Amino acid sequence: MTDQTSLKKLAGYRAAELVEDGMVVGIGSGSTIAYVIEALGKRVAEDGLKIKGVPTSDKTRRTAAKLGIPMHNVDDVDHIDLTIDGADQIDENFAAIKGGGAALLWEKIVAVNSKRNVWVVDDSKLSETLTHYLPVEVIPYGADQLFKRLEAKGYKPTWRLDQNGNPVRTDSANYLIDLHFDKMPDPFTLGRELTSMVGVVEHGLFLNVVDQVIVGRPDETVDVFNAHPSPLI
Ligand code: A5P
Repeated sequence: MTDQTSLKKLAGYRAAELVEDGMVVGIGSGSTIAYVIEALGKRVAEDGLKIKGVPTSDKTRRTAAKLGIPMHNVDDVDHIDLTIDGADQIDENFAAIKGGGAALLWEKIVAVNSKRNVWVVDDSKLSETLTHYLPVEVIPYGADQLFKRLEAKGYKPTWRLDQNGNPVRTDSANYLIDLHFDKMPDPFTLGRELTSMVGVVEHGLFLNVVDQVIVGRPDETVDVFNAHPSPLI
């Protein structure tokens, strides 16, 4: 048996092996992806791997650049071959909730512009249904009114606050509202509803996005699932 951190590392290093010389690589955010970045940094330094990285957060940009991975803005590349990212929870239909680390907007922008998307998780992130809170990125102007509308819908919103009690600001200077469901409604219907609400910039439901999921297991094995057609759990 091994702890969650080791599983993240195991799965992260495996995911980094998918990266080939010459690729443009979308690089996700979060504690699992930190290991992907570490592994890629080693390959760049030790094996002369040549890639272009596209970050999904300012933190990822800084961390990857420090390790010698050349980083480019999403608008400065003409395509992205592969994006490797983490997830907060993935259900049996390969729908995911992301944004626990506040990076959901850039993550979704990079994901939809990628030819292939791979998520890397430890197996605590797999669930038959989505039960994790759902992050929603909102424009600060009118955010209190939007919060009240979400409350009226019964979505149990809470503000994402920093340790000083101030609203967390995303890399695009927006706020985050987290929604808490007793039972998650159909994610496609919910996603469409949230997208249609004025003031919502993006939500953390990632549907029909992923091609492959890499899972670190407590017995120190790694499972690789292709999103179509095999079931995840
Ligand atoms: C960042 O906003 C998220 O979408 C992360 O990808 C997700 O929260 C997973 O992060 P960890 O690997 O730290 O659990």
